[in-house]
Amino acid sequence: MSRLGIANTMRLAYSYNRLKFHRQDRWRRTLYQTQLGTLLEENGGLSRPPIEMKDGWAIDTSMSLPHLDRVLDDSEKIIAERCGQRTSSTDAYRSYFQNLGTPEDLQRYPAFLDFATSSDVLSVVSHYLQCIPALSTTLPSGIRLVESNAAFDDQPDNPRDSQLYHMDYYSLPLVYILVLLRDTTPEHGPWTFLPRGVSQKARRALNYWSRRRGYRISDEDIYSVVDRKEAIQFCYPRGTVVFIESSGCFHYGSRNSIKPRFQLMLAYTGACRTDFSEAIMPHQVYPLRDSDSRLRKIVLNKNMLG
Ligand SMILES: [Fe+2]
Repeated sequence: MSRLGIANTMRLAYSYNRLKFHRQDRWRRTLYQTQLGTLLEENGGLSRPPIEMKDGWAIDTSMSLPHLDRVLDDSEKIIAERCGQRTSSTDAYRSYFQNLGTPEDLQRYPAFLDFATSSDVLSVVSHYLQCIPALSTTLPSGIRLVESNAAFDDQPDNPRDSQLYHMDYYSLPLVYILVLLRDTTPEHGPWTFLPRGVSQKARRALNYWSRRRGYRISDEDIYSVVDRKEAIQFCYPRGTVVFIESSGCFHYGSRNSIKPRFQLMLAYTGACRTDFSEAIMPHQVYPLRDSDSRLRKIVLNKNMLG
């Protein structure tokens, strides 16, 4: 990827994925254009005024999204059971960050997928992606309950990897939903981002995603073209939710989490991604029941085709 440059690799991967998934892509787009209202209704309908992502993001502090209370309760059980110790699935590459969740949790704690597939959440993501989305089955994981903890960091004074500014290249656009599972302050190493307009200006100024640039950008480089005051730290009370296009907004997180940070992370894409992860990685399979709504089935089964 470094030889070809990120943008060229994304173009190549997109062409490859179009050959494989153009029918799914057309189907998901047509469903969005012609049946979104019906699909949302069959899936339980909307329960509150819509959230609108502006400039690539929206923060919701209302605590009113469906199943959010259950997500917070169940997360506490998982955190109490597993936090503060290294899990077996831990990514050696990112010592400061680990997923506490397991695939079995999705059956044991149905609140997570109920939240991820609720009509209120999916209407926001669908409008942004202009199609019925799929919960990612490869990179990033579609659903993670992550602990960021400086105590695990083997180089705490050396921000690196996802602790440095970058924009996700996996799919264009890629929407993340992050839920704070505990109150979060600057000491927790908050997720930090630049709005889309500012990010795109910086991308052009820095020639980001070109052959000459690495994937990660130093603070010095980014703040040479962006005012530091533009950065938004996701420091809010427990239960706050951010919707964000992580492929269009520069971001970093988990930097020096002196106090452990706990966050639920959901990732949604369209049918034709801009990476090769689906060709080279095992795919996560989400539990489906016959009684699930059509919309829920489409979101949890990326290969589905009507
Ligand atoms: Fe990222």
